[in-house]
Amino acid sequence: MKSVSKLKTKILFVCLGNICRSPLAEAIFLHQLKIAGMEDKFSADSCGTSGHHAGDNPDSRTIRNARKNGIEILHIGRQFMVQDFNSADMIVAMDKKNFSNIQSLAFQNGFHKADIRMMRSFDPEAQLDADVPDPWYGGDEGFEEVFQILWRSCGRLASDLTKSIPKQTIEKP
Ligand code: 4NP
Repeated sequence: MKSVSKLKTKILFVCLGNICRSPLAEAIFLHQLKIAGMEDKFSADSCGTSGHHAGDNPDSRTIRNARKNGIEILHIGRQFMVQDFNSADMIVAMDKKNFSNIQSLAFQNGFHKADIRMMRSFDPEAQLDADVPDPWYGGDEGFEEVFQILWRSCGRLASDLTKSIPKQTIEKP
């Protein structure tokens, strides 16, 4: 049940560096919510399990590929914080390594009920435990593949969440 002061459901997307996959997931998710007219019900953020790129803009290849597909990314890299377990309603990890790192942090810090998911558990074309591949060391085709995966996965996530709104927001008098 949401408190009255927290009307938006917050989704936090997490990858390793927070310059390729998760800021793109955040931008695509917000774009799709806007198209559905649901942006007032949800908020999105992203971060990395590593702090190596904290303060950085998204990778230029990610920005270029997103722009080609009509998406603008506005984000500055930051590292995951334990406080994120308090502020996020759902944490969506891009791959198994990041999923298990976040799950370990949740157990170590007493957040046993944290809602942590795999991004591709929402991908209608993938196995539940499939990773969003890390495009960092590859070529342009890898960035396009990541875009298509995130477009499908965020689309399903947004439609699942949108359908669940009455359950989440209607409070007993
Ligand atoms: P991301 O991609 O986790 O999707 O942001 C990466 C970005 C940077 C590095 C690895 C992956 N890196 O090794 O610096």
